[in-house]
Amino acid sequence: MSAPTRLSLAVTTGTVHLPEEGRVAVLAPKIGSDLSPLDADRVHILTPFKPNFEHFRARGYHCAVAPEGRYGAAIVHVPRAKPLARALIAQATRVSDGVVIVDGEKTDGVESLLKECRRREAAEAPLSKAHGKIFTLVPGSDFSDWIPQDAEIEGGFITKAGVFSADGIDPGSRWLADCLPAALGAHVIDLGAGWGYLGARIVERGDVTRLDLVEAHHDALDCARHNVHDPRAAFHWADVTSWQPETRADAVVMNPPFHTGRTADPDLGRAFIATAARALKPSGTLWMVANRHLLYEATLTQRFKHVDEIAGDTRFKILRARHPVRKTR
Ligand SMILES: C[S@@+](CC[C@H](N)C(=O)[O-])C[C@H]1O[C@@H](n2cnc3c(N)ncnc32)[C@H](O)[C@@H]1O
Repeated sequence: MSAPTRLSLAVTTGTVHLPEEGRVAVLAPKIGSDLSPLDADRVHILTPFKPNFEHFRARGYHCAVAPEGRYGAAIVHVPRAKPLARALIAQATRVSDGVVIVDGEKTDGVESLLKECRRREAAEAPLSKAHGKIFTLVPGSDFSDWIPQDAEIEGGFITKAGVFSADGIDPGSRWLADCLPAALGAHVIDLGAGWGYLGARIVERGDVTRLDLVEAHHDALDCARHNVHDPRAAFHWADVTSWQPETRADAVVMNPPFHTGRTADPDLGRAFIATAARALKPSGTLWMVANRHLLYEATLTQRFKHVDEIAGDTRFKILRARHPVRKTR
C-alpha cells in the first residue's frame, strides 16, 4: 500500500475539513497529484496547461481554465513560479465560500509561501509530509493585493504572471529572431509560442501568409492573441507533442521548453523537433534556439537531411535543420 499523501493525511487526521457537499475547485494540480480524498463528481480542475487539462479530463474530471461560479472549497497546488502561486491563492480565496487549502513541495517554495501567509496572519494548521507542506488559510483573509496585473514590457508586449519570460524578452528568442532570414516562406509555425514574441517578429515578414501559433499555456496564448494582432495569425491551445497542422508548412520557428516542473527534460524539446519534422513540407526548414548544453543534434540529424549551427556562443546555439526525413512518428 502506498504511503498517504499530504492531503489524505490532513483529511484523515482532521487537520483540514472538506465540506460534505458543494463543488471543490482544485487549482493547478500536477500530473500525479493525489485527488483520491475528494469526491470525484464534485471536483472542478482549474488548469491553464493543456497536457494537464487533458490528463485529468481523460480520468473523468470536469476541467476548466477559469473558475465557473462559486465553490464550497478550494485546493491550491503550489506552482514553482512565486507570482503565479500568489495569484492562485488570491483566486482561490475569491471563489471559495469555504476552506482554502494550500499544498506544495519544498522545492516549489511552499515554505516561503507559508511564511508570507503567516506574516499576514492568514495561515493555520500547517502539516509537513513528504518534502512538502499543506496548510489552510484563515477564513476571510484578504489576498486582493496578490491578484496579478497584466504587465507591459519592452516593445509594448503584454504578459501575465506565470507565463514564460513574463518580465522581458528572452535573450535566446531575441537572438533567434535576429538570425531569421528576411523571407521565411508563406506558411510558418511557431511551436511553444508563449506570449508571442517570435510570432510578432515572424509577421514582420511580408512573404508570410499564414502563421500558426501553438501553445499549451492558455494564459500565454491569450497574451499572444494580443501581441500578435494580425489576420494571418491562427492560435492553437494545444500540446505540441501531439499537434498536427492542417497543411504542411514552409518553416517552423521555436524556442522549445526544456523543463518539466523543476527537472530538465530534453525529451520535451526532442518531441518538439519530431512535431516540427512532421509539420514541414519536404523542402521545409526548422529554425530553433537551444541552450548550449542541451543535446538536440542527434535527434535533428535523425529527422532532417541537413543540420547546421548558424550562430552560437557559450550559452546558446541557433540551429537550422532543412529537409525533414519522412517518418510515421
Ligand atoms: C522556452 S518557452 C518559449 C516561448 C516563446 N516562444 C518565446 O520565445 O518567448 C517554451 C514555451 O513552450 C510552452 N510549452 C511547454 N510544453 C508545451 C507543450 N507540450 N505543448 C505546447 N507548448 C508547450 C511553454 O508554455 C512555453 O511558453
